[in-house]
Amino acid sequence: MLYKRKFPNTRLRRLRSKSFLRDLVRENVLTGDDLIQPLFIKEDLSGTEEIQTMPGISRFGLDVVEKEIEELLALGIKSVALFPVINPDKKNADGTEAINQNNLICKAIKNIKASHPEIIIISDVALDPYTDHGHDGIMVNEYVDNDKTLEELVKQSLTLAESGADILAPSDMMDGRIKVIRSALEKNDFNNTILLSYAAKYSSKFYGPFRDAVGSSSNLGKASKDEYQMDVANSDEALHEVALDLNEGADIVMVKPGMPYLDIISKVKETFNVPTFAYQVSGEYSMLKSAIDNKWLDSEVIKESLLCFKRAGADAILTYAAKEIIKELN
Ligand code: PBG
Repeated sequence: MLYKRKFPNTRLRRLRSKSFLRDLVRENVLTGDDLIQPLFIKEDLSGTEEIQTMPGISRFGLDVVEKEIEELLALGIKSVALFPVINPDKKNADGTEAINQNNLICKAIKNIKASHPEIIIISDVALDPYTDHGHDGIMVNEYVDNDKTLEELVKQSLTLAESGADILAPSDMMDGRIKVIRSALEKNDFNNTILLSYAAKYSSKFYGPFRDAVGSSSNLGKASKDEYQMDVANSDEALHEVALDLNEGADIVMVKPGMPYLDIISKVKETFNVPTFAYQVSGEYSMLKSAIDNKWLDSEVIKESLLCFKRAGADAILTYAAKEIIKELN
């Protein structure tokens, strides 16, 4: 009945006139419960190391990661997403280090869970941090072979679940991965391991700084991931991807990147009404942060962008700014 409302009976500014009023009618809020901190963990590093393309973000050595977790928990962050940066000499064509029970990420999970069992650990399932060509799967005749890759993803998932990861997050966009991972988890008594599917993950240039951070960009070179990640131009396809992943056993679905893809988050939430996460990816973070550092933008823009994710329908957001923003929210 909005069309019957007319000025001056209706003055929308009335409800904006005082801050207490604005508080009363506000539709969405951003809290610390919405924020997930991604963390880069680097093999053989002691202490931290700055990431050139991500202002204010560092890689952590195994010796300091637990201290970081302690700080995050104290601030109210309840979940972290871990990404490994392994020694280049451990990378090979099939990314076999991914299924080594004693690899960097498994050690990190075990250490963190031993000292801070309450933190929710999200672990990426994908081969790109482990392959010498930088792709997310096994290459056969210059093409990322879907079904061969699935076999590795299943093994990687079981390895991560055994190490204590609470949530596995397949991020590679192979077809059918949720199905095979879910069935392997059920068969191996991991029936409470959560699957957070990067269901609608686009082939985006916004991942550039992340690939620098994990050291996969030089391996990938000029190659793109267009043959498996989604075409930026599509949105019906995102709903199709989400439907498949839910049917295959995903508990949570994710849209990635975030800010230029709010339309997708909104459609996914409205269509499926399931837990929906969004990833404010490295390029988005660096874009905002560098503009803030140059004083071209006010620092409030990050909080604004995160509230917009909530408005679009995201239940939680992976953001490199989580630690910084929760300080402001507290
Ligand atoms: C790996 C992965 C990527 C990101 C998360 N997991 C990069 C990629 O697909 O190349 C990107 C995250 C970011 O840019 O912050 N499969």
